[in-house]
Formats: sequence, structure tokens, C-alpha cells
Amino acid sequence: MVTYPGAQEYLPDTLDLLSLATASRGCRGCDLFKAAARTVFGAGPDDARMMLVGEQPGNEEDLSGEPFVGPAGRLLDKALEDAGIDRETVYVTNAVKHFRFDRAAGGKRRIHKKPSGGQITACRPWLVAELDVVRPDIVVCLGATAAQALIGKNFKLTEHRGEVMQLDDELRGSDLLGRVDPAVLATIHPSAALRARVDREEAFESLVRDLQRAAGLL
Ligand code: URA
Ligand code: SF4
Repeated sequence: MVTYPGAQEYLPDTLDLLSLATASRGCRGCDLFKAAARTVFGAGPDDARMMLVGEQPGNEEDLSGEPFVGPAGRLLDKALEDAGIDRETVYVTNAVKHFRFDRAAGGKRRIHKKPSGGQITACRPWLVAELDVVRPDIVVCLGATAAQALIGKNFKLTEHRGEVMQLDDELRGSDLLGRVDPAVLATIHPSAALRARVDREEAFESLVRDLQRAAGLL
């Protein structure tokens, strides 16, 4: 696995969301800043009780600079609405802040590519800083990438989906825990519901149920 310097050295001295978002624009903690258009930092109130963590920005997020505004974001909006959760009250972010993609052969279209373990680790200081500022009571990991970043590298969604868990031991061992120790729950990524060929409706409904369960913990 390639090792990257990581985001740590780019963190600002002042920990608030505006300072973090501003500083993240200059991050060179891994190679992903090179091809992507911009850093997509989290968005939402700094006193949110619930934090949603996706994987990484997609094409539309990379172009707009806002998390979850493309097709997956629209489905997430619908799922939140069905679960009775007001997106305005939730802090929404991603495990990795730059879009990783491949170019379709000869084409202009950019195709999403999963971030590597090294890139997830490199970007994690931003996510930890967001946790530290927002101090949510509950964190919902949307998909395996977010769960691997926050619950543990070997986390398996198929085994622990919907379970109420805690942050990774590594994070729990840090002084972060004195300030923030949220319940953490993992569910599918909305794009998994979009991609489902059969039972797309059931996949979506199961996402809604997990979000409801998370909201019920508040
Ligand atoms: N998928 C994600 O994981 N995050 C986004 O912001 C958009 C799509
Ligand atoms: Fe920095 Fe994360 Fe972007 Fe890598 S993906 S350059 S660590 S913000």
C-alpha cells in the first residue's frame, strides 16, 4: 500500500468548521488533489447531533464543491425525508475529501473509483477534526469506506450493518474520546440502492429503516 504524508500537517490551528473547510482547500495529503477539481468538505451545522459520512465526492460534488448533491445525494435526501430527518439539521461529510476517478477510454466522462486504504487513512485527520468540532451523538456511516475509516479497517457491512457500535479503538485511544464518543452505525451507501438491479425499492427502504433507527437513538 502506498503511504501518503496525510492531511495532519494541513490542519489549521483554530478548530472550527470554516477554518477547517478553508484549510482543506490547500490539502496535499495524498495524490487525489491533483486530478480532482476541488476539495469537497463537509456541510451542515456545527451543533448537529447526527453526522452522516459518505465515501468521497462524486462528479457533481467535485464540480459544485458540496457533498451529496448528485444522484446519490438526491436519493439520500429522499431517504432522510422518508425517515423523518431534516437534512438541514444533519452534518454531512465524506471519508475522503477529493473525487477519485478513472477516465472512460477516449471519453471525457469521469468514472468513480474507490479510494484506497492509504488515501482513506491520509484523509482521516479532516474527518476526525469534523468529529471534534461537531461532537455528534450519532454517526451514520454510509457504506463500507466510511465504516472502515471510523469503526475499523476490517469492518464488514454484511456482518455488522445497523448495529450500534463505537469509534475505532485507535480513535478511542486518542484524546478525542474525552470530548466525543458517539454511537456509530453503518448502513449501505445510497448509491448501492441506486445500483441495485433487483429489489431496488427494498434496498432503499432498508436504508430508510437504518436512518430511522439512528434517529431513534437521539
Ligand atoms: N457519494 C458519496 O459518498 N459522497 C458524496 O458526496 C456523493 C456521492
Ligand atoms: Fe488531502 Fe484528503 Fe484530498 Fe488527499 S483526499 S489531498 S488527504 S483532502
